[in-house]
Amino acid sequence: MLLHKQIPLLKGFFTLTTSHETDVTAVSATPASGVNSHYFKDGQYDGNTYHTQRMARCGEKQLDAFLKAAMHLDLSPDQMTGLCLGAGTGAPPLAICEGLKARGETSFPNFHLLDFSVGQLEVAKTALGEYDAVASCQQWNLIDDRELPYEDESIDFAECTHVLHHLTHGDLHAHNIRKVFDKTRRVMKPNGRFCVVTMSPKVCRLSRWFALLGQIATMDQSMDPGYSYGAECPDTDIVLAHLADAGFEVKKVEPIRTPLVVEELYYNPKKLIDLVRNGDYAASSFFSHANDRGLLEDWLAQADRMVENGEIETVIERADSWRNLIGQATIFVAKVV
Ligand SMILES: C[S@@+](CC[C@H](N)C(=O)[O-])C[C@H]1O[C@@H](n2cnc3c(N)ncnc32)[C@H](O)[C@@H]1O
Repeated sequence: MLLHKQIPLLKGFFTLTTSHETDVTAVSATPASGVNSHYFKDGQYDGNTYHTQRMARCGEKQLDAFLKAAMHLDLSPDQMTGLCLGAGTGAPPLAICEGLKARGETSFPNFHLLDFSVGQLEVAKTALGEYDAVASCQQWNLIDDRELPYEDESIDFAECTHVLHHLTHGDLHAHNIRKVFDKTRRVMKPNGRFCVVTMSPKVCRLSRWFALLGQIATMDQSMDPGYSYGAECPDTDIVLAHLADAGFEVKKVEPIRTPLVVEELYYNPKKLIDLVRNGDYAASSFFSHANDRGLLEDWLAQADRMVENGEIETVIERADSWRNLIGQATIFVAKVV
């Protein structure tokens, strides 16, 4: 239904193709101080499993929100410049390209990609290359003191998906979120659109079975990956306040179901547990805090028990009902004011 409504609106929006030769520009392999260090362990974040297991593009609502936000720009693709903050392996821009292709479009926007993982950017570049949709790829630490490497008012559409919770812990967290929003605001054109996707602590803890499991098993909070991971996620109010302070008008705030791991894996607890046990980075990154404290084995033992006695099904059902109710993340669509 939605698709049919969108096709006429999209016509004329993405109509031209531009071609770009790009290399991933590696600036520095070392994170600046203040960066959440467990994301750098042994270069694991550079691996490919993230792309195949973790992010299955984005869900329908997220894609729909991206495309509607882009439509408001009323631009043809040669005019439109996109920016992906913490682009990773490029799941969001890929979803946009795939979504457009499915709607009959044959040309795609040009995205600038920033991330501090060169390995992930390489994957993104290859995947997006099929759509000729990469304007530049650059290794970048979003929270250091440099401005983003673009001119003032040069970007039409920016997205930042599942990145805010990486921007360090504790007091610096809110400060860093604001910093990234301010930097983004500078490079955005008047009327540009900025889409932010992030989890809140509550959403993080309730809508994923591997977070809920710890709570249902009444494990100590410190070994509950839902608690420790969720603690890094910003509350909705914080995101809203920082967007407003940075000069954005928030047009939409919507709960979305967005695949954190691909659905087949989400519903296959045994496999997910095995991957975590074997140190697969994409799966085990959710548990890095428990792991850092030497508590991961306890969680895994609890998970094994629940799989064996069938209790895991109940945990997954409960998480699913939360997924339907409050989503797995929230999307904020903001306009430059
Ligand atoms: C959960 S992944 C999301 C990737 C992508 N946005 C997606 O939706 O698939 C988070 C990404 O943020 C990047 N990242 C985290 N902190 C960063 C920082 N300070 N500067 C640049 N990139 C950062 C990581 O390298 C990783 O690729």
